[in-house]
Amino acid sequence: MRPLKILFVAPELEPFVKVGGLADMVGALPRELAALGHDVRIVCPAYGCLRVEGEWHPRAEPLGVEVGTETHWGRTWQTMLPGARVPVYFLERDDFFGRNEVYNGPWGAHADNDLRFIFLCRGALALCQQLDWIPDVAHCHDWTTGFVPVMLNSTLRDTPLGRTATVFTIHNLEHQGYADPRAVAFARVPASEFRPDSIESVGAVNMVKAGLYHATKLSTVSPTYAEEIRHPEGGCGLDEVLRFRGADLVGILNGIDTVSWNPATDRHLPARYSASDLSGKATCKAALQQRLGLHVDPHVMVFGIVSRLVAQKGLDLLAQAMPSVLDRMHVQFVLLGSGDSGLEHSFRSAALNYPGRVGVQIGFDGGLARLIQAGSDVFVMPSRAEPCGLTQMYAMRYGTPPLVRATGGLIDTVSPFVEGGDTGTGFVFGDATAQALYDTLGWACATYYDRPAEFKAMRLRGMRQDFSWRRSAERYVDLYRWAVAARTGAPA
Ligand code: ADP
Ligand code: GLC
Repeated sequence: MRPLKILFVAPELEPFVKVGGLADMVGALPRELAALGHDVRIVCPAYGCLRVEGEWHPRAEPLGVEVGTETHWGRTWQTMLPGARVPVYFLERDDFFGRNEVYNGPWGAHADNDLRFIFLCRGALALCQQLDWIPDVAHCHDWTTGFVPVMLNSTLRDTPLGRTATVFTIHNLEHQGYADPRAVAFARVPASEFRPDSIESVGAVNMVKAGLYHATKLSTVSPTYAEEIRHPEGGCGLDEVLRFRGADLVGILNGIDTVSWNPATDRHLPARYSASDLSGKATCKAALQQRLGLHVDPHVMVFGIVSRLVAQKGLDLLAQAMPSVLDRMHVQFVLLGSGDSGLEHSFRSAALNYPGRVGVQIGFDGGLARLIQAGSDVFVMPSRAEPCGLTQMYAMRYGTPPLVRATGGLIDTVSPFVEGGDTGTGFVFGDATAQALYDTLGWACATYYDRPAEFKAMRLRGMRQDFSWRRSAERYVDLYRWAVAARTGAPA
């Protein structure tokens, strides 16, 4: 079958700019698709905070982007995705992207997020026109890219780009991109699209709904989440739309970048290790304890957390359970994260109240995230909802069994440990309560101290799981071909 031309439009891209797992996915899947022989190109904004890696070239021609009442001119920088034959284009336009934060400034979401990301959508399509490169499929990611399918279905329908199919991936339905109706005119899509079965929700523009109604096919990042979002409890108000489009929605489990996330080669670790020789893990544990000001003790159990500090991640349950755990169990906690100021405060206070036993770093630090994965004994992730979750997969690969709540992608990636058996890769609990989390932390602690052989066997089972992207990349290719056939009426 012929190779496909695949355009990725995305607001985050590892290793250049990352807020959460969307960046990891968009940085990893194209590499796998290119290895399968497809022509993949990525468009992302040139934020002020971009990390410049490799060689960058400005494109000579300025890029005219037709949004609002005039043509907005921008500049494009080109580079390659490290280690892959995948061109990456960054759209530069300082009034939209020059600031340092991706979505939120010091006072919350940027007030012009609708305009910024509509510029990204139209800019990505304008770039294809400028390059005279007409993709078979445009793969869009979350609310920021919801207008790509709308534009292709309306304003651009009668241009060569009108044949481009779209796949819209839901990474997290909680973020919907509500915008003032001014967004319709700015995007230059017909005013008639401002209706509930297109881009409108309760009098506002809903950018994720735009993608859900208009994309040729839909996907989300795990099979269980694909099921959960069809029901009112998990649908974030859009379950009806997802049932309506149910036949076009698939759940494809994210993979992880197993080259970058490999404890045998990770240069961020003070010692490297593998399933056949775990000894370096103890060095990582000591380095972690030292770095976060904990008592350096190889025997005490360490719980690790790396997370955005938001309600979705269930870390308020951890903040509630932590004092009782620390009072009754011989354990330490290390936490890296940022977000909700109340949660930041709770964890900072825990570090002050339990010196040497709780180490907290508020902020974003890719190297420390890896050291926590390697140096902890159990990785804690009590999410209320989790579309896929990557950190539990990183933890297993680093020999650190995860402790997770049974939701979304956590169900699809962590198999429950059963005492006395020889299966299971982590500790799984059901109720989203501080008590259930406390009980499960206690269970993990008892297993660590009282059943060390079973605990070690669980570590090794996790390390031997195959979480690589290959299988999922092939499923995306099937989805792209299905979308192209639906869009053009001819098989791809
Ligand atoms: P989500 O995308 O919902 O935040 P995921 O588990 O899919 O959750 O991905 C989170 C990604 O962001 C992982 O790569 C994780 O290591 C990284 N991450 C989260 N918080 C931090 C932080 N404070 N510092 C460094 N990396 C972080
Ligand atoms: C989102 C989800 C997370 C998922 C990631 C990558 O941020 O919250 O569960 O792993 O996207 O798809």
